Amino acid sequence: MGCKLFGFLFWVSSILCLPLFARGFTPADNYLIDCGSLTNTTLGDRVFMADNLASKLLSASGNIVGNTSKAVTSSDDSPLYQTVRIFTGVSKYTFPISQRGRHWIRLYFYPFVHASYNMSMAKFDVSTENHVLLSSFSVQSLVVKEFSVNVTTNSLAITFSPSENSFAFVNALEVVSVPDQLIPDSAGLVESSTGFQGLTWQAFETVARMNMGGPTVSSENDTLSRTWVPDQPFLLGKNLATSVSKIKAVKYVDGGSTREIAPNTIYGTCTRMNSMNDSNSNFNVTWEFNVDPGFQYLVRFHFCDIVSEALNLLYFNVFIDSSIVERDFDLSTYLVNVLAAAYYKDYVTGPATSNKIRVSIGPSNIHGTYPDAILNGLEIMKMNNSDGSLSGLGTVNTSSSSSKKRVGAIVGVTAGVACGVLLAGVLFMYCRKRRQLSRQRLSKTWIPFSINGGTSHTMGSKYSKGTTTSLISNTNYHVPFLAVQEATNNFDESWVIGIGGFGKVYKGELNDGTKVAVKRGNPQSQQGLAEFQTEIEMLSQFRHRHLVSLIGYCDEKNEMILIYEYMENGTLKGHLYGSGHPSLSWKQRLEICIGAARGLHYLHTGYAKAVIHRDVKSANILLDENLMAKVADFGLSKTGPELDQTHVSTAVKGSFGYLDPEYFRRQQLTEKSDVYSFGVVLFEVLCARPVIDPTLPREMVNLAEWAMKWQKKGQLEQIIDPSLKGNIRPNSLRKFGETAEKCLADFGVDRPSMGDVLWNLEYALQLQEAVVQGDLEENSTNMIGELSPQINNFSQLDPTGSAKFEVSSVDDLSGVSMSKVFSQLVKSEGR
Ligand SMILES: *[C@@H]1O[C@H](CO)[C@@H](O)[C@H](O)[C@H]1NC(C)=O
Ligand SMILES: *[C@@H]1O[C@H](CO)[C@@H](O)[C@H](O)[C@H]1NC(C)=O
Ligand SMILES: *[C@@H]1O[C@H](CO)[C@@H](O)[C@H](O)[C@H]1NC(C)=O
Ligand SMILES: *[C@@H]1O[C@H](CO)[C@@H](O)[C@H](O)[C@H]1NC(C)=O
Ligand SMILES: *[C@@H]1O[C@H](CO)[C@@H](O)[C@H](O)[C@H]1NC(C)=O
Ligand SMILES: *[C@@H]1O[C@H](CO)[C@@H](O)[C@H](O)[C@H]1NC(C)=O
Ligand SMILES: *[C@@H]1O[C@H](CO)[C@@H](O)[C@H](O)[C@H]1NC(C)=O
Ligand SMILES: *[C@@H]1O[C@H](CO)[C@@H](O)[C@H](O)[C@H]1NC(C)=O
Ligand SMILES: *[C@@H]1O[C@H](CO)[C@@H](O)[C@H](O)[C@H]1NC(C)=O
Repeated sequence: MGCKLFGFLFWVSSILCLPLFARGFTPADNYLIDCGSLTNTTLGDRVFMADNLASKLLSASGNIVGNTSKAVTSSDDSPLYQTVRIFTGVSKYTFPISQRGRHWIRLYFYPFVHASYNMSMAKFDVSTENHVLLSSFSVQSLVVKEFSVNVTTNSLAITFSPSENSFAFVNALEVVSVPDQLIPDSAGLVESSTGFQGLTWQAFETVARMNMGGPTVSSENDTLSRTWVPDQPFLLGKNLATSVSKIKAVKYVDGGSTREIAPNTIYGTCTRMNSMNDSNSNFNVTWEFNVDPGFQYLVRFHFCDIVSEALNLLYFNVFIDSSIVERDFDLSTYLVNVLAAAYYKDYVTGPATSNKIRVSIGPSNIHGTYPDAILNGLEIMKMNNSDGSLSGLGTVNTSSSSSKKRVGAIVGVTAGVACGVLLAGVLFMYCRKRRQLSRQRLSKTWIPFSINGGTSHTMGSKYSKGTTTSLISNTNYHVPFLAVQEATNNFDESWVIGIGGFGKVYKGELNDGTKVAVKRGNPQSQQGLAEFQTEIEMLSQFRHRHLVSLIGYCDEKNEMILIYEYMENGTLKGHLYGSGHPSLSWKQRLEICIGAARGLHYLHTGYAKAVIHRDVKSANILLDENLMAKVADFGLSKTGPELDQTHVSTAVKGSFGYLDPEYFRRQQLTEKSDVYSFGVVLFEVLCARPVIDPTLPREMVNLAEWAMKWQKKGQLEQIIDPSLKGNIRPNSLRKFGETAEKCLADFGVDRPSMGDVLWNLEYALQLQEAVVQGDLEENSTNMIGELSPQINNFSQLDPTGSAKFEVSSVDDLSGVSMSKVFSQLVKSEGR
């Protein structure tokens, strides 16, 4: 209940730009109206006034109060959208203004069907005395429009004018003061040395507001109730960029930005050029936004050098479309030599000539500088045209809003943009929250059940030091046996999706609808107990979007049951051969390998002690509904003693065909054993055949040997999956082949780290996409051996990381698996 409410408010606030005014700036004018509502609506710290209380502000003809109590049923919908005010004639809200100056106008529209009004059919104009805000506007999905205008009289009137034979509506409305210094009068002007004067006169409509390299910053956490969304969806060539976060480093100094202009959560993260330690890198990082042609735009760049170790190390160029606006930009020179000081720059564009604006950052050409570039935040605001209009061809005279077909079309685009911007952020936050909530809900429901549920075994008995005794105290994940029975239809045999040495895997569905994979250990298998405990411990500590998530476990009645998220698309192996799935493109394969590499890299480095998967194979790489890869089955055992050694000595386990020969010979395990196995997976992905195929001629049976032979001859293309022939760029194939080859080096020390492998795969993807030119291709062979510390940041911020289903895999069923239990997870000393 508490969680639900929190989630609800969270959702609402991330959609609605609701400010809490406990942040320094107190707006002199602060009108919040829940239109159509007969009661006040409280959201967070803000109270949206009942519409009847606001009625003295309204001079209107033929308006009615709509009531949508049936139309909007989802409890996740904001109360603001439950009611609406409908205007059948020209109607006007007039707000007394106590302090002249710039004000936000935020309009909330949610089209639903009321008994006599279908809001999707509404068509109307909205204007102030001096500016047309919207013309021939209609709404097909939830839209929040944000404008700001300078009010120079004692009142501000907002007029709703229905188009002919139509009507207007609004769900909620805000008129709120903006601090004077937010928009200064002057800005740079693109392709001009004179600059732009007169911003104070402008009306603006917010087109984009991005937190580069960071998550959504909702209105509650913004100094001025704005919503900032992640930049990822707008980024072209995502591999060219990486994210950095260092919020504590941000400083506000005189001459720079202020907290009102943007909070430190914006300045403290950035999207950075991913130069991959290659001093010859030379490419731009570019974002693209939809705009309306003909209008000028104010583009505000937020910068804060959170990446440099010292001053005067970072030089870069900034572009709007093809125009350079900052050349060899050095933040140190603007900000009296304070590193990581917040700074912003405004530019006004010429009238847009297309329906896109691109913003780019790229390396400076100054000799001797390291190629790098950053951007921390970005705002794009549409400026009114010479008629004072922000919309199409509209004029200020709203009663002349006859038929303007062209206008409508243009407006549609704008609405789409704003909505997209807001929704992208909302969805991201929402999904993440949903997932956390669902877990919280589960644990809430299940907490009354005993922690160890009557188990009679002793935890950690197998490994001394009792290192495992605490692990099952993780009650968050404990699930009662009854719930598991229910989820799997009492372990219905027809729901079995896999069988392995450890037991069976069932498909299941929790009562909240979450699809899960349920792995039920064979109760006789005492051997599995330690592995069971380890998997719980590991999985509950290691959370990464490229690792399968543990949803819960059950250890009642001597059961050993693990519940994972369900992976819609099964195993990578199944998509490579033998299952009749359509063949994956090269790009998809690269992306899957990159995802899996990220997961393994995280296992190896994301924790104080490296974790070794020990059973890396294509059957343990699972794909969600978007074909995003997650590493599964990382095992049920761990080495107890933490010895001072760089390897772990242990009985050889793993799958035949993937096994590191060094590990086999010396029975010593390091992360490099996983790297070896991953190299085999890479060849498997390229050749789409089993790693061991006894039906083939002798020299072909073992894929690793066979592929290495062709790789060494430089003729790898001879044995690739026929469906890839002609679709792989030679450079991409070369990079990929080299990477796999290095992974298969005889001695672990000669193999790259998983981080290196990841970089090289990303590079192979770039070469395939040919977004990188010249220099980089030439240097493509020297990438191995370099590793960036930022590898993980990016994936964790990717909004698509909220995908939630997947399947658990079982042991390799092809009959060549040597693994008797799930793959094994081993902690080894350091890294
Ligand atoms: C509703 O809000 C208005 C203005 O914020 C306030 O004056 C009024 O007392 C509130 N009414 C109730 C019932 O809370
Ligand atoms: C909406 O309609 C329902 C029943 O039709 C009524 O009980 C409720 O008070 C109405 N709410 C508003 C805000 O008019
Ligand atoms: C409402 O109007 C939209 C757009 O005209 C239309 O697609 C939709 O079917 C209508 N809904 C109802 C219930 O009439
Ligand atoms: C609003 O416009 C007036 C001129 O009428 C100007 O003096 C004032 O600075 C402007 N305020 C803002 C916040 O732009
Ligand atoms: C605000 O920020 C805090 C701390 O970063 C975070 O925990 C909280 O979830 C954020 N609130 C919203 C509504 O985004
Ligand atoms: C970066 O973009 C600008 C503007 O489009 C272009 O002139 C420049 O050549 C680009 N730089 C690189 C390295 O691609
Ligand atoms: C926007 O409208 C104002 C009048 O309110 C006008 O002075 C200004 O020139 C307009 N802006 C542009 C870019 O035409
Ligand atoms: C709008 O134009 C009509 C005629 O086209 C005129 O009668 C009306 O007074 C104008 N309204 C305003 C507010 O200028
Ligand atoms: C670049 O390489 C150096 C040493 O070779 C390493 O310390 C650093 O972390 C690397 N940086 C990046 C961004 O890869």
